[in-house]
Amino acid sequence: MKAVALCMLAFVLVGRTTGDLQPPERSYKILVLIPVTFKSHTIVFKPLLEALAARGHNIDILSSLPLGFKHPNVTEIYHDLMQKHKHLDDMFEFRKASAGGLEIFKDLLPGLAKDLYKVPAVKKLYEKRKDFDLIVTDHLFNEVPFITVAPPGMDHRQSAAFGNVLNPSYAPTFLGSYPLPMSLWHRLMNTCIHLWIPFIWRIWFVVPLVQKEISAYFPDLPPLLELERNQSLTLMNTQFSIATPLPLLPLQVEVGAMHCRPAKPLPKDLESWLAGAGSAGVIYFSLGSIARSETMPPEYRQAFLEAFRRLPQRVLWKYEGELEGVSDNVRISSWFPQQDVLAKEGKVSSPGGLIKLQESIFHRTPFLVSHLR
Ligand SMILES: *[C@@H]1O[C@H](CO)[C@@H](O)[C@H](O)[C@H]1NC(C)=O
Ligand SMILES: *[C@@H]1O[C@H](CO)[C@@H](O)[C@H](O)[C@H]1NC(C)=O
Repeated sequence: MKAVALCMLAFVLVGRTTGDLQPPERSYKILVLIPVTFKSHTIVFKPLLEALAARGHNIDILSSLPLGFKHPNVTEIYHDLMQKHKHLDDMFEFRKASAGGLEIFKDLLPGLAKDLYKVPAVKKLYEKRKDFDLIVTDHLFNEVPFITVAPPGMDHRQSAAFGNVLNPSYAPTFLGSYPLPMSLWHRLMNTCIHLWIPFIWRIWFVVPLVQKEISAYFPDLPPLLELERNQSLTLMNTQFSIATPLPLLPLQVEVGAMHCRPAKPLPKDLESWLAGAGSAGVIYFSLGSIARSETMPPEYRQAFLEAFRRLPQRVLWKYEGELEGVSDNVRISSWFPQQDVLAKEGKVSSPGGLIKLQESIFHRTPFLVSHLR
């Protein structure tokens, strides 16, 4: 009952973009907790928070990244602890790590749990906690219940916490998927991954270490894994048409691609540079917001530079920092207006994360994918 009521509350709060809903009965005070977040996660949160603010609700956001709100009823509070606990820069190294990259959380999360409550603004929020009507938080990095948003989409570990244990013979994990229908070997491997992730998360090094730090501050707090089960609604950044269709509970709601929007005009110089590509077209190459190109091993970097040099197309390469030996048909920048670039005619996009996949589909951009398994 509680879940149904909260689902209804969420729909009433958010409303539909077409605006045909009744206005909310009153302005709610909403606390958004994303103290450990990445660019791709804030992209998923932003349209939800914009819709809530547009409906007259008051929102306080605790985040590790600015979301750039200018709305009078939205207050953003940042901490810069992610700088201090810098563990996420080198994705090329993490690939080799034994826990499939999950090691990054081993130091990051307990470290943050320890330092976060020392930040005065965070303490103040904690003291004000009874003022809020609802908490919205990230499903993965913040073990606090209520409504969660799951930027990677379906997470079988989270689903199991609700009682919806997914079948490893066909349900992928967020670490990757095997071609369907899976062979016997793939099913076996997939089952191991299904067990391996919760083992790392719940038993080995994530939750136990975070629990230790948090219990030191809040000895009366119930166990985090119990709190996690009390989530009332989760908004998942996925959609069955571009993912494996899975059985869902009423509290698991798919909202994939809600951040996608029609294109805005490009900056003049970029627009004319792209137009200069003529009929050959343009390739957009970006490794996403977490993998920084600077950490790319030199031999990969060289291989890309040489491959791009031989192409008739023009290439936009999202690359942070200086790069030598760039050919004339390549333009590098640490940031491009990705959705607006993808929306232009005659583009092909490189593989990337879920966000880029959704934007490519929304803007009908062909997407190049490499299969690594
Ligand atoms: C801000 O919130 C108040 C209620 O606290 C509401 O009356 C007002 O309309 C909101 N402002 C905007 C611009 O939505
Ligand atoms: C979970 O929710 C139930 C029902 O609202 C409540 O009785 C229980 O104390 C909650 N458990 C935790 C760990 O918050």
